Amino acid sequence: MKYGQSFPNHIAIIMDGNGRWAKNKNKPRTYGHIKGASVAIDTVLYAKKLGIKYLTLFAFSTENWNRPSEEVSFLFALLQEHLKKEAEKIKENGIRFKTIGNLATLPDSLVKLINSLSNMTEICNDMVFTLAVSYGGKQEIEEAAEKYKNSEPGIKFKDCIQSSFLPDPDLLIRTGGEKRISNFLLYSLAYTELYFLDKYWPDFSERDFKDAIKEYMARKRKFGNLI
Ligand code: IPE
Ligand code: IPE
Ligand code: MG
Repeated sequence: MKYGQSFPNHIAIIMDGNGRWAKNKNKPRTYGHIKGASVAIDTVLYAKKLGIKYLTLFAFSTENWNRPSEEVSFLFALLQEHLKKEAEKIKENGIRFKTIGNLATLPDSLVKLINSLSNMTEICNDMVFTLAVSYGGKQEIEEAAEKYKNSEPGIKFKDCIQSSFLPDPDLLIRTGGEKRISNFLLYSLAYTELYFLDKYWPDFSERDFKDAIKEYMARKRKFGNLI
């Protein structure tokens, strides 16, 4: 295979299809979320093994708050359980944990855990794993505009964006068959390569991850230029 460019530095993933995966197996949606959560942690560790420097996973969108409250509570409880269980492993692997989104809307116990894992891994520098929770791309831009309006002269708009500590994603992967962005990183996805696959998230494998990276590397990015 002829490679058009180097290995992606930042990969962002929309982990979609948990509910449909479960439905196909005649199971409740929660069953899909449970499998999806374990695939998410496997993906983080695999990304680290591959040498990815930044991995950003979309776990819960601003609009996901419109789902039935039982599903929302279930998702937060599941996230809390997994962060607790995997904290040591994340640290041992040199992975720095970060979040983007509106943490103030989350249950206190989850926020506490998020803060403690973020602090605990502050010195880790092999990979940055960012979880987007209660995150919306439009809301992020609106908040940045408000911040910018009240900022000192000389401050750049980009620096007012919550996710500005991240480089722009090189590759966006979305599982589950839908071909849309669903309010993910609207500002920084401007020139990101998009990769959609029909597989539901709970079936996403190391092979699928590698295939996405392989295709990315074979693509030619132009950024509006002629070369
Ligand atoms: C992705 O799977 C997980 C979240 C959005 C929290 P879904 O729950 O959206 O699953 P589908 O798309 O209904 O199958
Ligand atoms: C996108 O999935 C959000 C996450 C994966 C967290 P959705 O299932 O919410 O997206 P839509 O509703 O199909 O656009
Ligand atoms: Mg979905």
